[in-house]
Amino acid sequence: MTTPATDHQSATATATDQPGGLRLNDVTLTLGDGDTAVTALDHVGLSVAAGEFVAVVGPSGSGKSSLLAVACGLQRPTSGTVHIAGTELTALSDRQRTATRLRHIGFVFQQSNLLASLTVKEQLLLPLHIDGRLDTAARTRADELIEAVGLTHRAGSRPHQLSGGERQRAGLARALMTSPAVLLVDEPTSALDRVRSAEAVRLIAEQTHQRGTATVMVTHDTAIMDAADRVYEMVDGRLS
Ligand SMILES: Nc1ncnc2c1ncn2[C@@H]1O[C@H](COP(=O)(O)OP(=O)(O)OP(=O)(O)O)[C@@H](O)[C@H]1O
Ligand SMILES: [Mg+2]
Repeated sequence: MTTPATDHQSATATATDQPGGLRLNDVTLTLGDGDTAVTALDHVGLSVAAGEFVAVVGPSGSGKSSLLAVACGLQRPTSGTVHIAGTELTALSDRQRTATRLRHIGFVFQQSNLLASLTVKEQLLLPLHIDGRLDTAARTRADELIEAVGLTHRAGSRPHQLSGGERQRAGLARALMTSPAVLLVDEPTSALDRVRSAEAVRLIAEQTHQRGTATVMVTHDTAIMDAADRVYEMVDGRLS
């Protein structure tokens, strides 16, 4: 469990001025059209400072994954703006947005989204390889993260050789690999037992506080949301 430090709280007030933070301003997302249109996000505002760990809870279908999809630029909001690491994500071209995502954002998907043909270690090294930053330090960090999620004995395994929980832990290690400015985590512990859940969340909190990451974690798990500095509730696309 993490006690929110005073400097994190004071940092919250100035989140918008911080280069590392995440800010969603009056974001609305409408999906589908006509009679089947759904307001997945309804005028959502959220500021997360560098080094701050925010949890979002809410029922299924309330818009939690949509929030993360908009925050990382995978989904363009219908209206409103998203700022990440000092850049207005919503003002960038698709190509620029992809580059920003690769460099500044770590994403742990609700389904682990590992590449079928790569081993656990290769999954971690791939983003750095693409970005031309694969060096000895990166390989060492990959080994450390694989150990931190308890997968050292599975480092050479491919996704089909892993359990659901092992895939989830590999996805978490991969997201932490680039020490992203912003970390977005969707139900990171749904396939994990209590001990592994606690370990995974401790790792997320540690990364957030030590490396000054702005972290948003979506979860149903009330036990793990205690680790967060702030907790929001999402209901019908509204955040409170
Ligand atoms: N492509 C789409 N077209 C239309 N509606 C969609 C689309 N994708 C999601 N929705 C709807 O948007 C709403 C929010 O979905 P979202 O996936 O963000 O919920 P969630 O809170 O993450 O749910 P869960 O806890 O089940 O993962 C839901 O009502 C969903 O049915
Ligand atoms: Mg979801």
